Amino acid sequence: MATLKNQLLTTVTEPVSIGRNKITIVGVGQVGMACAFSILTNHVSSDVVLIDVMADKLKGEMLDLQHGSAFMKNAKVNASTDYSVTANSSLCIVTAGARQREGETRLDLVQRNTDIFKGIIPQLVKYSPNTILLIVSNPVDILTYVAWKLSGLPKNKVIGSGTNLDSARFRFLLSQKLNVAPTSCHGWIIGEHGDTSVPVWSGVNVAGVRLRDLNEHVGTDKDKEHWNELHKQVIQSAYEVIKLKGYTSWAIGLSVSQLASAILRNSNQVHAVSTLVTGHHGINEEVFLSLPCTLGEDGVTHIVQQKLTNDELALLHKSSAMMHEVQNSLKF
Ligand SMILES: NC(=O)c1ccc[n+]([C@@H]2O[C@H](COP(=O)([O-])OP(=O)(O)OC[C@H]3O[C@@H](n4cnc5c(N)ncnc54)[C@H](O)[C@@H]3O)[C@@H](O)[C@H]2O)c1
Repeated sequence: MATLKNQLLTTVTEPVSIGRNKITIVGVGQVGMACAFSILTNHVSSDVVLIDVMADKLKGEMLDLQHGSAFMKNAKVNASTDYSVTANSSLCIVTAGARQREGETRLDLVQRNTDIFKGIIPQLVKYSPNTILLIVSNPVDILTYVAWKLSGLPKNKVIGSGTNLDSARFRFLLSQKLNVAPTSCHGWIIGEHGDTSVPVWSGVNVAGVRLRDLNEHVGTDKDKEHWNELHKQVIQSAYEVIKLKGYTSWAIGLSVSQLASAILRNSNQVHAVSTLVTGHHGINEEVFLSLPCTLGEDGVTHIVQQKLTNDELALLHKSSAMMHEVQNSLKF
């Protein structure tokens, strides 16, 4: 008997998903869901899969997003505790793991989250051997290194969300002080996403006018206007938000959605993301740190060679030494 559906629709061909812009998000906590929401509402992907170990929460989040489909562009949202649903993902975003408690540093989380990654990364690569991994869980630089080692993927395909967020926070603070939109305040934070991040004051500019050409001490302790306070505020940002609301979510969600868009749309946009930096700026250690990178469908395709001052280089080397030391103590 002809069903109502058969009377309404004549089949030309059964749709086969080729997963061109399929994104998997592992971890449906505050960060994972902010990433999912931002990716869906910015139409970065029409095929989003959620994975977590908490089955009820996972199903609840999936249904809640599915109920919003009519307000979006009919994106497909799927969820499971079984990794087979992630097959053929172009991009896998990992936000699973413990988060900082009040007063805890990102580095305090490292062994706990490394152990969690051992159960996640091989599963993702098993079902999507050509995927790009975008790591968000903290400490993000070290966990990106861990993900690279566990995945066997080439270095260009394992990326950490890194200091894209720190750079955005910096630009916001510059914009507040200058009353110029953050998109027109150009400044880069590189190195570790964390307490040893490096502000590249030598390059901070608006419309090509470098602040350092106006005030040679800007960003240093000699500056009477104390612009270096802005970087201290960037470092404190996460601690402050965590103290006030318990976690950070919206800004990292927007940051990750921007990175996902650059990758899936093969845009060659430059973002500060965590990448293998061995051989760059005189770094010898095998560590992941953020540098400005062009992003596209192959992941990180180029690293922009910034002209750093000796002070900035020294700070970057300090970041690198610190990452290397923590990595050496890891069991995986
Ligand atoms: N890189 C950044 O800029 C940045 C910014 C904010 C937060 N973070 C980090 O993101 C991570 C997540 O933060 P959150 O606030 O969403 O935490 P959360 O506690 O709200 O969520 C974590 C989720 O991970 C899930 N999970 C745990 N083990 C899992 C496993 N083995 N497989 C699948 N899922 C698993 C949990 O069930 C939970 O739903 C933390 O490590 C946090 O520090 C990074």
